[in-house]
Amino acid sequence: MQKYLIAIIVGLGLAASALYLAVVKPVVAAPAEQSSAVFGSDGKLQLPDPHAFRRWVFVGAPLTPNGLNNGKANFPEYHHVYIEQKNVEAYLKTGEFPEGTMIVKELTRVLNPGFPDGSRTEPSGRGYFNGEYNGIDVSVKDGTRFAKTNGWGFFTFGHHPLPYSNTAAEAPVTECAGCHIANVASTDMTWVQFYPLLRDKDPK
Ligand code: HEC
Repeated sequence: MQKYLIAIIVGLGLAASALYLAVVKPVVAAPAEQSSAVFGSDGKLQLPDPHAFRRWVFVGAPLTPNGLNNGKANFPEYHHVYIEQKNVEAYLKTGEFPEGTMIVKELTRVLNPGFPDGSRTEPSGRGYFNGEYNGIDVSVKDGTRFAKTNGWGFFTFGHHPLPYSNTAAEAPVTECAGCHIANVASTDMTWVQFYPLLRDKDPK
């Protein structure tokens, strides 16, 4: 008899849990799509954690050195671009980044130049090598928050050596979004043509 009682109690418990999951759970607000973009109540974006984003997928490193820009490139550093793996996967499947995607572009200076064009010689040859971290720009996809700029917001946490600012307000359209809108609106506001992983979708 006791056995049956236990079975009934356990059964009731399971039924109650199932009911709870079926009925109560959906009423609780579904957690927003997990995004690494954290905004303060003032709308400022928090600096993404460098220990985290430097381990995301590294999609490319455009370089516009001073030596090729009359000695005064706007960004004479390497532009290291990082995207979270789940967002890379989604892009490869759909051709679009999911809401909440954050793309980080971290600059690194060229390593101690040995020549006026910023290059130096190493055992592998004369060229450019990664030096110190020197700045960070971020884009975030959020169709509601950034409806006016094709659903993406742009932020800069400083163009200088570490440490970077802890928070950043959305940058003015003329400073950032305008150029992305003018040139890459058809590829989700991102210069995928420079990132082989996203550009050449054939995985072979
Ligand atoms: C004059 C055009 C122009 C302006 C202005 C501009 N960008 Fe970009 N941005 C580019 C180009 C070109 C690339 C890719 C090649 C490179 O990095 O040199 C890029 C790449 C990026 C990337 C990497 C992801 C991607 O879209 O490919 C981020 C993030 C980014 N820019 C943020 C910013 C922020 C933040 C600002 C303003 C502070 C800004 N950009 C201003 C042209 C621009």
